[in-house]
Amino acid sequence: MEGIKVNQIGVSFKGIGSYVPDQVLTNQKISQKVDTSDEWIKSRTGISERRISRLEDNVTEMGYEAALNAIEMANWDIKTIDLIVLATSTPNDLFGSAPSIQAKLGAYNAVAFDLTAACSGFLFALITATQFLKGGSFKRAIVIGADQLSSFVDWNDRRSCILFGDGAGALAVEATNEFDNFIGFDMRTDGERGSFLNLPSTNNKDSIIDNIDFLSGGFSPIQMNGQEVYKFAVREVPIILEKLFRNTNYSSDEVDWLVLHQANQRILDSVGDRLKIPREKILSNLEKYGNTSAATIPLMMDEAIRNNRIKHNDIIATSGFGAGLSWGAALIKWG
Ligand code: UT7
Repeated sequence: MEGIKVNQIGVSFKGIGSYVPDQVLTNQKISQKVDTSDEWIKSRTGISERRISRLEDNVTEMGYEAALNAIEMANWDIKTIDLIVLATSTPNDLFGSAPSIQAKLGAYNAVAFDLTAACSGFLFALITATQFLKGGSFKRAIVIGADQLSSFVDWNDRRSCILFGDGAGALAVEATNEFDNFIGFDMRTDGERGSFLNLPSTNNKDSIIDNIDFLSGGFSPIQMNGQEVYKFAVREVPIILEKLFRNTNYSSDEVDWLVLHQANQRILDSVGDRLKIPREKILSNLEKYGNTSAATIPLMMDEAIRNNRIKHNDIIATSGFGAGLSWGAALIKWG
């Protein structure tokens, strides 16, 4: 890792990739498990189906596949990668899954670590990585969002189990002293409202030896107050994006694409309406994948870039939001 030290001004986006498990869970299939219907789920969320991990699709495997796709698009020698940041809330190793992705890639010169911020995770990881690049410490970074929420969903809770799916996405970002395609960002946390969406640890008391207790580790399924999370998202996301537009001297008219965390089609439409961004500029693939937590934003961007919808120099306004509560926004130019 040598970094670049002179005239450091910005970053450019060199590659993108994604991965989803091949196991498909349709609304129709869910309605055989809980009291719901394809019609209810589609009209309330926009989701038709989601992908569910098999044994071989853990966060390391999904993140690795997504990263490899991004590296191939960037055409990078793997040994030149300096930094890997993995946004995940569901690592297959609580000590971190990023190192196992680094090893699988053979990216031996990269420092690799996990970052947890639930559905805001990818955006927070992207912001973190760009600060290292702009500061001159590192030259090439892979930012990954990968989650396997299917392992933590209560599959008997119809109010939440319909929303989530598994997947991964990754972005290859490079420091450059020629221009800056990371135009601006903002991020927020409100822990006071954290109880609206949790994946809490369980505290089962056990005993090591006489009079010395310990709490065995484990997690209880996702607990969500859907209405409160919905209200939070449709209120805070337009506010943070409007502030970002003001601070960067951009207007919503100049945005080519709005790429929001894929939580609910009604949230996407409502945010777009408030910002006066027309529906054709709001990217959505919720129908196929549901809410894949930290993976949604790069998964959506990968699809749109490979389909040639997002083109070189297009302006993308993006926002992640969710548990914490946490939320953030970034304005980027693709390329
Ligand atoms: O990354 C962030 C992750 N979280 C979110 O994005 C959650 C944001 N919130 C939402 O997307 C929506 O609140 C939900 C999709 C979760 C729920 O939609 P809603 O329009 O807010 O429904 P609701 O909770 O107000 O429930 C309305 C009715 C209730 O019945 P009653 O009490 O009116 O008789 C629910 O019991 O719909 C019922 N209901 C369902 N019915 C059929 C709740 N879930 C279901 C279901 N199928 N799956």
